[in-house]
Amino acid sequence: MSSFEFNKIFAAVLVAGIVAMLGGFVAELLMHPHELEKNAVEIDGGPVASGGGAAEAMPEPILSLIADADIAKGEKLSKACAACHSFESGGPAKVGPNLYGVVGRAKGSKAGFEYSAGMKAVGGSWTYADLNKFLWKPKKFVADTKMNYIGLKKPEDRAAMIAWLRTLGSSAALPTQGQIDAEMAELATPEAEEPASEGAPSEEAPSAH
Ligand code: HEC
Repeated sequence: MSSFEFNKIFAAVLVAGIVAMLGGFVAELLMHPHELEKNAVEIDGGPVASGGGAAEAMPEPILSLIADADIAKGEKLSKACAACHSFESGGPAKVGPNLYGVVGRAKGSKAGFEYSAGMKAVGGSWTYADLNKFLWKPKKFVADTKMNYIGLKKPEDRAAMIAWLRTLGSSAALPTQGQIDAEMAELATPEAEEPASEGAPSEEAPSAH
C-alpha cells in the first residue's frame, strides 16, 4: 500500500468518524433536550390545600356586579340547578334542598334535608361572598359536599345567579361598599397565597332590613 493510498484511507476513516460524531451530537440534542432548570409553572405560596394551580385557587370577586347583574339571565341559568333544587316558596327538597330565600339563610339549615357533614360544619349564613365561592367550585368550598355540580366559571354568571336568588324571598340588602372592598382585597390577586381563613365562615352576613 503506497503512503498516498494509506492517506486516502486514513482521511476517509477520519471523515467517517467526524460525521459519526456530529451525527451523535445532533442525535443527542434531539433525544435529550435540556431539562428545564425550573418548573415552567410555579406554584406560589405555602402548602396548597387541594389540587389546582395557584391561578385557579380563588374565584373572581363579584360583589360589585350584583347590583346591576342580569337577573333574567340568572333565572335562565337556574335551569342547570332545577334537576336538584326547587326554588318556589315551600318547594320540596329534591337531590338538594329548596333554595327559596337561601341568600342570607344559615348554611345547611333547610329543615327536611340531610346535608353533608361538611356543609353542616361550615357555619354562618350564605353571604354573597360565600355563595360566590361555593357556586364557583362547590367542592373547593365544602370538600365533601353532596352537591355534584362542576360550578359556574364565569363571574357574570355567578353574579346573575346570585342576584336572581336574592329576588326569591330574601331580605338581604345589596352589598355595601365595605363588603365590596373586603371581597376585592381578599380575591383580587389570584396569584397571592390563599389566606388562612379560606373556607372559614365570613363575618359579614348580609344585614337583613
Ligand atoms: C346534581 C345536583 C345539584 C345541582 C345540579 C345543583 N345542586 Fe346545589 N346542592 C345540591 C346538594 C345535594 C346540596 C346539599 C349540599 C351538601 O349538603 O353538602 C346543594 C346545596 C346547595 C346550596 C346550599 C343550600 C343550603 O341550604 O345551605 C346552594 C346555595 C346551592 N346548592 C345552589 C345551587 C345552584 C345555584 C345550582 C345551579 C347553578 C345548583 N345548586 C346545582 C345538589 C345540586
